[in-house]
Amino acid sequence: MGLVVWVAIFVLNILFLCCYVDDCFGVTTDDDLETYEPYQMRLARVQVALLRLWDFLGLPHGRRKQFCEYILDVIGFLIDPNALTATLPPESKSELIQQVRMFANSRRRTLHEWQQLAGWMNWSLNVFPLYRPALCNVYAKMRGKSNQSALIFVNKAVRDDLLWFADHVENSSGVFFFANIDWNPLVEADLEIYGDACLTGLGFWVPADNLGLSALVDQGSEMAHLIFYWEAITVLAAIHHITRSPNPRRGTAERPFRLTIRSDSSNTVNIFNSLHAQPTYNPILTAAVEPDTRWSGQSMQAGGATAMAEDGAPPHIIQATGRWASDAFQFYIRKNPVVLNAMLAAQRRD
Ligand SMILES: *[C@@H]1O[C@H](CO)[C@@H](O)[C@H](O)[C@H]1NC(C)=O
Ligand SMILES: *[C@@H]1O[C@H](CO)[C@@H](O)[C@H](O)[C@H]1NC(C)=O
Ligand SMILES: *[C@@H]1O[C@H](CO)[C@@H](O)[C@H](O)[C@H]1NC(C)=O
Repeated sequence: MGLVVWVAIFVLNILFLCCYVDDCFGVTTDDDLETYEPYQMRLARVQVALLRLWDFLGLPHGRRKQFCEYILDVIGFLIDPNALTATLPPESKSELIQQVRMFANSRRRTLHEWQQLAGWMNWSLNVFPLYRPALCNVYAKMRGKSNQSALIFVNKAVRDDLLWFADHVENSSGVFFFANIDWNPLVEADLEIYGDACLTGLGFWVPADNLGLSALVDQGSEMAHLIFYWEAITVLAAIHHITRSPNPRRGTAERPFRLTIRSDSSNTVNIFNSLHAQPTYNPILTAAVEPDTRWSGQSMQAGGATAMAEDGAPPHIIQATGRWASDAFQFYIRKNPVVLNAMLAAQRRD
């Protein structure tokens, strides 16, 4: 099939042709139609060209599998290229939720059943991309196993994740807007936050609000020596700061509020980007996509940068922002001479 698709794209010039297993689909303008004689159907011109290629190669196809519509069913999702949305139809959604809950409430399942469920949930992430962390413990539990009929326990971590997934999918509209992921975080953000951490403290800075928040790392924590953990917590704290504020900035479903958080930790960027982390870090991700229910431990210690400096906090705490900060931080201080004075005072006291 790959070779046939290659011929269609590079020889027949069908530019927007996509293929999933043996499903082919694409887009075209609605005035570009042609009749495919054998089926007596008005179809997209590129679709007719593809059918003729199949005829030429002797590949079988059926009339009832040809569609040319404004909204197309592609591997179970309704794709609307005009609205730029993908939708999970309500009946598929409820069936998925029901199966996930049944699995969560069972004690043991065969590896084969685990794989089926994971595959089904993974497929649904096409429209619920934020709920990917729900699969972390599921995959961890399946790793290294190969006997399809061997039973695997549904442990508490997996059960919690599955029920979390089911609850969230249930509340979600099932409509995914492609525009929500297609934006440039460097130039199209509504708000930017700079965050950084070291093994003694963490902090972030919201330039638009003239606000900086910092906290000390709890040295008694079993994570105290893991810098990656605190870098990720910093990003989570910044997200919570925005989403849990008494007057959260809101967008609309079509155009949600866009937040860029800058971090100099590439591991952190990777886990938030892929929403995939080791089980130890996974709660940070679930807490990030659903700020209210699961996370109750960490909280940032409030205090504007100005207030902190006036209090005589030593500069290294304000500059938990360290490596990214030198330029931005100095710019901030130049614009806010009060902070500069307070910091000089603090430094002298040090
Ligand atoms: C999950 O689905 C994506 C495509 O939607 C695929 O690329 C990925 O390999 C799948 N992951 C697993 C572990 O099956
Ligand atoms: C796979 O697991 C089943 C059920 O536990 C068991 O009966 C069978 O012997 C196992 N097969 C192999 C090859 O280990
Ligand atoms: C789902 O929506 C209901 C009703 O609005 C709400 O009470 C519940 O907390 C929501 N669940 C989640 C997981 O967001």
